[in-house]
Amino acid sequence: MDWGMANRMHRMFSPASGNTVMLAVDHGYFMGPTRRLEDARATIAPLVPYADALALTRGLLRHSVDPTTSVPIVLRVSGGSTILKEDLSHEAVTTSMEEAVRLNVSAVALSVFVGAPHEHESLVHLSELVDDAEAAGLPVMAITAVGKELEKRDARYLALACRVSAELGARIVKTYYCDDFSKVVEGCPVPLVVAGGPKLDSDEAALTLARHAIDEGAHGIDMGRNIWQSDHPVAMLKALRAIVHEKATVREALDVLNGSKANPSPRAAVT
Ligand code: 5RP
Repeated sequence: MDWGMANRMHRMFSPASGNTVMLAVDHGYFMGPTRRLEDARATIAPLVPYADALALTRGLLRHSVDPTTSVPIVLRVSGGSTILKEDLSHEAVTTSMEEAVRLNVSAVALSVFVGAPHEHESLVHLSELVDDAEAAGLPVMAITAVGKELEKRDARYLALACRVSAELGARIVKTYYCDDFSKVVEGCPVPLVVAGGPKLDSDEAALTLARHAIDEGAHGIDMGRNIWQSDHPVAMLKALRAIVHEKATVREALDVLNGSKANPSPRAAVT
């Protein structure tokens, strides 16, 4: 791996744990002003100190993130459909590699829609993006999107989508946790990170999902709604860090969550 590529990967994935806690705030690119992300700057600012990377679009980056930040940026570069359409798979690459380099990002991210009407285009877009990104020394993160078909989130489907993404050159794949997740991990030769999906019933349920994902081989999370739609987003992010980086049990992570709720303090040392 070339130095630039290796450096970007190591800035996102902790050399100590090998894992990453990415904060996903890219939902607005097709969902509009998602609940509790309406004022993105206000939502993002207190969370950034606890994130290993921030996943978002160029618009939100320019308008809602202070350029003095040192947090690595995973730039979403695909789009072109909104939730008003039944088929969300009609996407293209919406941001050039020149722009990604200008924004000094650490990785670029694009959704692939395996099995959807625009499967072919999304896979060709991934391959072309990999060509451009590799030339610039940037890793590509493929996102195995399911559109509105949340029931697609099973091991057989996700193993296929993740493996195809890796074969086409993605260096990181973002997917969903599912039953038999270890089968998805086994078939994918590059690091997997898991999304949280729609807000779960409790913070404990999201921590449990993260614990299972890491235990079964994920290299981290790229989570959004279960963090910033929580009533205690900073405490939630700290608890997730304990799981992803410190091997905390769900019980221990809940102690971190409750401790942080009771005593919110500025960032001291982040592991
Ligand atoms: C939107 C995305 C999100 O970044 C991804 O789904 C992670 O967020 P959440 O944990 O809220 O599902 O890719 O297209």
